Amino acid sequence: MAEHPAYPVGLRLTGRRVVVLGGGQVAQRRLPALIAAGADILLVSPEVTPSVQAMADAGEITWRRRPYEEGDLTDAWYALIATGDVDANTRASAEAERRRVWCVRSDDADEATAWTPATGHSEGVTVAVLTTDARGRDPRHTAAIRDAVVEGLRDGTLVAPHHRTRTPGVALVGGGPGDPDLITVRGRRLLAEADVVIADRLGPRDLLAELPPHVEVIDAAKIPYGRFMAQEAINNALIEHAKQGKSVVRLKGGDPYVFGRGMEELQALAEVGIPCTVVPGISSSISVPSAVGIPVTHRGVAHEFTVVSGHVAPDDERSLVDWPSLARLTGTLVILMGVDKIGRIAETLVAHGKPADTPVALVQEGTTAAQRRVDATLATVAETVRTEDVKPPAVIVIGEVVKVGPLVTAPSE
Ligand SMILES: C[S@@+](CC[C@H](N)C(=O)[O-])C[C@H]1O[C@@H](n2cnc3c(N)ncnc32)[C@H](O)[C@@H]1O
Repeated sequence: MAEHPAYPVGLRLTGRRVVVLGGGQVAQRRLPALIAAGADILLVSPEVTPSVQAMADAGEITWRRRPYEEGDLTDAWYALIATGDVDANTRASAEAERRRVWCVRSDDADEATAWTPATGHSEGVTVAVLTTDARGRDPRHTAAIRDAVVEGLRDGTLVAPHHRTRTPGVALVGGGPGDPDLITVRGRRLLAEADVVIADRLGPRDLLAELPPHVEVIDAAKIPYGRFMAQEAINNALIEHAKQGKSVVRLKGGDPYVFGRGMEELQALAEVGIPCTVVPGISSSISVPSAVGIPVTHRGVAHEFTVVSGHVAPDDERSLVDWPSLARLTGTLVILMGVDKIGRIAETLVAHGKPADTPVALVQEGTTAAQRRVDATLATVAETVRTEDVKPPAVIVIGEVVKVGPLVTAPSE
C-alpha cells in the first residue's frame, strides 16, 4: 500500500480525556505539554519516575497504579502508549483502533495512528515538524529543523513579520553590556520587528548593522562628557514615531532600570497613552566584572554587592549615596559612571575606614573587542586611572572578589 503523508492538526485538549499508558521517560517528556494543553490526563502504570510522581502529587494528572487493562481507553480522545511491555502496547493500540481513539506508540511508529511532531514555541506560535512518512522518520532531523526555526524566530534571524500580534507602541529593550550575544531572545526579536530604533552608544551596537535598510536608526548617543541628546528630545522622538503607528525600539545599554532612565521614558509614554513594553537586560554591573573573571559575590569572601552611581562626587550636594556607610560594608562595591570621580570616592571610603589596600579593578568597554582591565588599590586608583588613561565607560569593582579568580583581561567568547 502506498504510504500517504501524515495529516498535521492541532488538538484542542482542554478538559478532554487523554490516557497515558506507562510512567517512564517517554511519559515524563510528553506530559508537560499535555498538562499545558489543559487535558484531563489519566495515567496508568504500576511505577512512575519521580518527576511523573510529582505531577500526580500536584494534581496535574490522575495516576492509576496498575498495569494497562482493557477498557482504560473508555472516554479517551487521545492516547499515548508507552509502557515497557510490547504485548500491553499491542493490546492497547488494538483497543484504541476499535474505539477510534488516535494513539501514539513509543515502541512502534508503524502501528501508531498518530505521531508526535517535534515542537517548539516562540511568542504565540507553535512550530511542529513531522516527517512525511513512517519510513522517513528521523527524530533527530525533525528536532534539528524545529530548533533551527524556533531559534531563528527567537533571535530574529528568521524574520517573519506578524502584524497582528506585533507589540504596539514602544519597547524599552535592555541590550546588555555590548557583546551582541548578550541581548535577551525577546529583545533581539523585537529589534528584528522594529521600524524605528533609537539606540544609545552603550549596548550591542553591532546589532544595528544587521537591521534591514528600511529601519530608521536614531542615535541617542549620551557619550560621557561629550555629545548629548536631551532626555526630553529622546522622549519626544519615541512619542512621535509611536504615534505614526510605527514599531519603536528604544535600545539601551545593560538593563533599562539600572541607571538607565527607563522609568522616565515609560512615564513620558504613559502620559500620552502610548503602551510600553520593558525588556530586561543584562546589566554591566554584573556582566562586565564577570567578563574579566570577577564574581561580584564569592562564598566566604563577599555576601553582598552594592551597585552605586559615581557620577557625582561624595561631597557634592546632589549625591544621594551614603558613602560612610558603604565604607563599613564588607562586601563588593560596584561603581558605574565613576571614572572621573574615583579619586574622591576612594579618598572618602578610606577616610571612613575602608582599608587603603582594598583591591580595585577598572574594566573598560567590557564584553566588547576593546575590553580592558586595569588593577589598583584604593590608595593607588586615582593615579592608576591617570597613568593608564582609563576612560569611560568602565565598571569599577572594589573588594576582595577582585582577587579570587585567575586574571582575565581580554574578551572571552
Ligand atoms: C548610564 S549607565 C547605564 C548602565 C546600564 N543601564 C546597565 O545596566 O549596565 C552607564 C555606565 O554603565 C557602565 N557600563 C555600561 N556598559 C559598560 C561596558 N560595556 N563596559 C564598562 N562599563 C559599562 C559604565 O560605568 C557606564 O558609565
